[in-house]
Amino acid sequence: MRFSYFLAYSLASLLSASAVSLENDNPVGASITLPRYNLLPRLPWSNHKHHKDNWGNRVEKDRKRITIRSSRNDHDDISADFLWALKKANHGGLVHLQKGKKYLIGKNLDLTFLNDVCVKLNGEVKFTNDIQDVKIYGSGVTNCNGQAWWDGFSGAEIPDPKNKYFRPILVLTDNATNIEVSGLHLKDSPCWTTFFVRSKNVVFDDVYIDAVSTNASTLPKNTDGFYSLNVDGLTVTNTRVNVGDDCFSPKPNTTSIFVKNLWCNGTHGVSMGSIGQYPGVKDYISNAWIENVTQLNGQNGARLKDIRIENTHAPVVLNQCYFNVNEMTCAAYLSKVNITNVIFLNVSGTRSGKNGKVVADHTCSPGATCNGIHLEDINLTSPAGSPSQIVCDNIQGDIGVDCIPASEADD
Ligand SMILES: *[C@@H]1O[C@H](CO)[C@@H](O)[C@H](O)[C@H]1NC(C)=O
Ligand SMILES: *[C@@H]1O[C@H](CO)[C@@H](O)[C@H](O)[C@H]1NC(C)=O
Ligand SMILES: *[C@@H]1O[C@H](CO)[C@@H](O)[C@H](O)[C@H]1NC(C)=O
Ligand SMILES: *[C@@H]1O[C@H](CO)[C@@H](O)[C@H](O)[C@H]1NC(C)=O
Ligand SMILES: *[C@@H]1O[C@H](CO)[C@@H](O)[C@H](O)[C@H]1NC(C)=O
Ligand SMILES: *[C@@H]1O[C@H](CO)[C@@H](O)[C@H](O)[C@H]1NC(C)=O
Ligand SMILES: *[C@@H]1O[C@H](CO)[C@@H](O)[C@H](O)[C@H]1NC(C)=O
Ligand SMILES: *[C@@H]1O[C@H](CO)[C@@H](O)[C@H](O)[C@H]1NC(C)=O
Repeated sequence: MRFSYFLAYSLASLLSASAVSLENDNPVGASITLPRYNLLPRLPWSNHKHHKDNWGNRVEKDRKRITIRSSRNDHDDISADFLWALKKANHGGLVHLQKGKKYLIGKNLDLTFLNDVCVKLNGEVKFTNDIQDVKIYGSGVTNCNGQAWWDGFSGAEIPDPKNKYFRPILVLTDNATNIEVSGLHLKDSPCWTTFFVRSKNVVFDDVYIDAVSTNASTLPKNTDGFYSLNVDGLTVTNTRVNVGDDCFSPKPNTTSIFVKNLWCNGTHGVSMGSIGQYPGVKDYISNAWIENVTQLNGQNGARLKDIRIENTHAPVVLNQCYFNVNEMTCAAYLSKVNITNVIFLNVSGTRSGKNGKVVADHTCSPGATCNGIHLEDINLTSPAGSPSQIVCDNIQGDIGVDCIPASEADD
């Protein structure tokens, strides 16, 4: 399992609770505390029962606890101490980064060995801002110093062959199972804030993600809140995202998605896709439930249920053309992505007026199947005037509301 986030669990077998001796190779300022029962003599009638968490691993109080010294200043790199602590805590321990302390990570850490480790993050983990080729990064109340990366990347696009910035991703999992992150603040990621690849059962709860540029001429580009590829089980609840790109955007082969109480500000919205980007490759996104999304000041709004949208250019969008592709090219190369059974329920609010009176745009490619699209309780208004317009092209069947082809819309 490869996991570059500091909070990793896996379905590892437990170590027995027997003695772990204190070692004397501790770095300066580091300490190891054994769980209390480990310090008591093992009497025949003692009957310590381990409590287990929901994956069958030890709970916090039964874990060996490792602490390390914090950074003295913004150049005091404690990467080596941190790596030491993770190795010591591997297989059933806990690394505690303490409240009010700052831990500066300036090196790329290979955390591929992680197996049943908890990181209790009450302090701040900060990454250095040297622009160099760094791949893995991550942590909780984590300040990733994205500004320098956004400034350096300014004007570029990821697929651009001349792009020389391989910007780090704050939280990356690959081939990982059972990831749970809660209560943390993920700040200023250089590129995608999270990216889950070939992973199973990823849960984010009560997380705050922000990436806001302080340089008026650069955008916090591609700092999407949630990104996934080949993932089964992605749950995001009670989370706020304040970034310059997508808020929540599962990519190909993401299944069993559950989102509830998501607040997005200044984002591109909740997007399913891109899917069907590569000819001949079959991609799917299925079984998604998205409920109670608040979308403020964005570009696109979103889908499904109880969505409140304010000041957003295109609140409800379903289309098959994206990324610097003009309408003619799109018409010439028909998409084969089928969209079936997508329901937009109870979507209300205002749009910015950028696209005239159009508040919802559903444009399918003539080459694909688009059916079972249903809109209900949609109350979106546009400052460009009423009645507001809903566009639908190439959709088979009734969508539940009056709609007009794009050619008749006044935008
Ligand atoms: C995924 O991890 C499992 C062990 O957890 C390993 O056996 C397998 O080889 C890994 N797969 C890849 C593609 O890395
Ligand atoms: C803002 O970003 C631009 C583009 O990278 C850069 O030239 C400029 O120096 C930055 N401004 C500040 C104040 O850092
Ligand atoms: C909807 O989400 C917001 C946070 O964005 C939360 O304050 C509110 O309580 C949620 N509403 C319901 C009905 O859960
Ligand atoms: C929401 O985003 C706008 C810019 O799009 C910003 O001015 C505002 O401060 C943000 N609000 C919050 C609560 O972060
Ligand atoms: C999605 O899954 C299908 C079937 O398992 C596979 O053929 C395809 O390559 C996957 N797509 C991506 C982008 O990984
Ligand atoms: C519709 O969504 C709003 C929040 O935007 C919520 O207060 C209301 O209860 C929802 N209505 C239904 C019928 O679910
Ligand atoms: C899309 O639907 C059409 C018609 O039902 C079907 O022939 C085609 O195989 C479907 N494409 C995919 C990628 O599932
Ligand atoms: C639609 O929303 C507006 C405010 O945005 C409100 O005044 C109006 O009553 C709503 N209409 C319905 C049918 O809910």
